[in-house]
Amino acid sequence: MDTPTPVLTIDGPSGSGKGTISRIVAQRLGWHYLDSGALYRAVGVAAGWADLDLDDAGALVRCTFDTTIGFREGEAGDLRVLVNGHDATDELRTETAGAAASAIAAIPEVRAALKDRQRAFRQPPGLVADGRDMGTVIFPDAAHKVFLTASAEERAERRYKQLKDKGVSVTIDGLLREILARDARDASRAVAPLRPADDAVRIDTTGLGIDDVVARVLDVVSRPAG
Ligand code: C5P
Repeated sequence: MDTPTPVLTIDGPSGSGKGTISRIVAQRLGWHYLDSGALYRAVGVAAGWADLDLDDAGALVRCTFDTTIGFREGEAGDLRVLVNGHDATDELRTETAGAAASAIAAIPEVRAALKDRQRAFRQPPGLVADGRDMGTVIFPDAAHKVFLTASAEERAERRYKQLKDKGVSVTIDGLLREILARDARDASRAVAPLRPADDAVRIDTTGLGIDDVVARVLDVVSRPAG
């Protein structure tokens, strides 16, 4: 029997460092990278462009099917996301897009519509998949699973620094409130709620530097699967 393409899933709440860590680990391993949150954010942004009501599940499901989402490498070697052919990378990172994504992600038909698009990223020599339900729903058979956490205060602080560096004006208190609201919605939804897979290795990144977390994740990958 053919050996399936290996997958490392990295799940966790917003601001736990998943994106940064996943990108570095994928680069070190020479594996592909799936930012699954970008797909939900892309649909959120497309819904905003079309002026859709976030309570209109039917329209949002149609929008999911109609939205084309592409990834390409930017000139600076960064990952750019194209929504319906437009570079929406910067718009995708805003809290408005995150909140829209979180509302849309609670609709079961939207999640189902994005399932195959996510699984298509599983290509040799391997895939690092970052999200909320990578280890539980999308790649339950993944050889390696990690669940990253960090205190809500530290996550708000990290997001604050990121946004400040980009010149966006926000307050830590406001970010903390948004993060807690999004966590609560992601953890309490009926379909694919945010929770660690039973076989995931949990890593609390509070107080840890990026290099420490990367080393711990690579250590998980180096262990025999299963
Ligand atoms: O990870 P990121 O913050 O970009 O995700 C944005 C939102 O998309 C999350 O708050 C969550 O509601 C949703 N999401 C999801 N399942 C995933 C990835 C993201 O429900 N696998």
